[in-house]
Amino acid sequence: MSDLIGQLEALQVEAQAALVAAQHTPETEAWYAAYLGRKGKMTTILRGLGQLSQEERPRVGKRANEIKETLEAALLVRQESIAAAEMQRMLASEGIDVTMPGRRPQVGKLHPTNQAMREMVEILKQMGFQVYDSPEVETDDFNFGLLNFPPDHPAREMQDTFFTTTPDVILRTHTSPGQIHAMRQYAPEPIRVMLPGKCYRNEDVTARSEMMFYQIEGLAIGRNITFSDLKGTLLNFANQMYGEGRKIRFRKSYFPFTEPSVEVDVDCVLCGGAGCRLCKHTGWLEILGAGMVHPIVLQNGGYDPALYSGFAFGMGIERQAMLKRGVDDIRLFYSNDVRFLERV
Ligand code: DAH
Repeated sequence: MSDLIGQLEALQVEAQAALVAAQHTPETEAWYAAYLGRKGKMTTILRGLGQLSQEERPRVGKRANEIKETLEAALLVRQESIAAAEMQRMLASEGIDVTMPGRRPQVGKLHPTNQAMREMVEILKQMGFQVYDSPEVETDDFNFGLLNFPPDHPAREMQDTFFTTTPDVILRTHTSPGQIHAMRQYAPEPIRVMLPGKCYRNEDVTARSEMMFYQIEGLAIGRNITFSDLKGTLLNFANQMYGEGRKIRFRKSYFPFTEPSVEVDVDCVLCGGAGCRLCKHTGWLEILGAGMVHPIVLQNGGYDPALYSGFAFGMGIERQAMLKRGVDDIRLFYSNDVRFLERV
């Protein structure tokens, strides 16, 4: 009996030494077959169990099981360390450099029109103007009539209109009809609102005009609002939008919904007034139209023109972005050319 246990213990020593020598997975498989498999040395020794006495058999059997379990556990540990070594060899041979910096994901940004719009909204917000949303689809009356465009007045031809299949329903040609919506909602309270949004004109698309574009409208109504308030507001706007120390000038103009009406220029952002290609050698860039709200428009909005006065202004958002960033073609804003979108 002691002879069998002695054989088992000698086998354990031999098997453990052989396992340490195994360097690759196939060698561990061969090792298993040689020691623990059905035709392995352990099995061969255990065949001798049958010749043992009843008393001896359980003791030897127990010892044999212990040794078998020890060897199986040793095999598992060996297999894991071989697998780790094999993984390391594979990484090294494939040349993976874990210190290499990763690729930066491309991050988008606001569209240039939205950048300009937000900038303008921010400036006007500081002066107390609140954003007022008004519809892009209007009736002829809101877009023209209530703004004091007489029927068949040539002023309507200043803006070529997109009509719809519903009579009298059109796409707004400017943000000015929002003035009427805002006034009717708030009259007789004083108001100070800005109305940013899309406008549509049935015009040929050129470097200077698109069929769809953005405007922002400003409107202030109250009891003692004067032309000086308009001047101060626009000078402050120009200084914040185009840089401190900017000069503006007012030229008399005509809009049916304002009286008096003006067009406002800022001194050229490129040459500072000396004259260049951008300002067509005039030294000035036109940025917007403005004026004192016409008494008829005040009335249409629900304000008594004997008690209330107000100013209004309207400007193209892409136009401001073009002047400010030196873009010479409005079509770029709608062509989705990534080189333009990234640069501006
Ligand atoms: N609605 C005018 C246009 O699209 C711009 C404008 C001019 C707006 C004078 C105003 C204004 O509010 O007072 O050409």
